[in-house]
Amino acid sequence: MIFVTQSPLETENIGRKLGTILNKGSFVALFGDLGGGKTCFTRGIVAAAAPESLHLVSSPTFAIMNEYHGAVPIYHFDFYRLTCGHEIIDLGFEDFFLGAGICIAEWSERLGDMLPDNHIKVIFENAGQDCRKITFVAGSPQSQALIDKLNSLETG
Ligand SMILES: Nc1ncnc2c1ncn2[C@@H]1O[C@H](COP(=O)(O)OP(=O)(O)OP(=O)(O)O)[C@@H](O)[C@H]1O
Ligand SMILES: [Mg+2]
Repeated sequence: MIFVTQSPLETENIGRKLGTILNKGSFVALFGDLGGGKTCFTRGIVAAAAPESLHLVSSPTFAIMNEYHGAVPIYHFDFYRLTCGHEIIDLGFEDFFLGAGICIAEWSERLGDMLPDNHIKVIFENAGQDCRKITFVAGSPQSQALIDKLNSLETG
């Protein structure tokens, strides 16, 4: 499934819709260009799923992980500075992948084989000025069901 957005708000709004349907154990793996809109999209998810934490959303480049408190906890990672997926184990982040909350991971490219099978892949591409191409790919039947639900929210 592919969306093309023309503004940060449009990208945030897709995140917001996804945020209404994610549940405990969802893993949203964000891929793609620098400045592609991954943090903007994350802000939308958090606006829907943990609105009281919305002001805390920033690129957690220095912290590697931010935690937000919603109906289920949200773990927001930025793996830009990770050199390989196995560093996740050294850093002690593996436990967060086990499904106690919702995971959102910027720079999931870096995860390699540490990427959980049950993930929703979202790829961000700069398509000129304020235009972004956002592609959703399911990593599992469960995530395909979420993408289908998102599609029906978008078209219905
Ligand atoms: N259609 C759009 N969707 C999202 N962001 C857009 C769009 N058009 C312009 N922008 C701008 O692009 C930038 C996207 O920044 P954002 O931090 O969300 O990207 P990112 O993918 O998280 O970057 P990084 O790789 O550094 O983490 C913002 O400055 C935003 O205002
Ligand atoms: Mg970012």
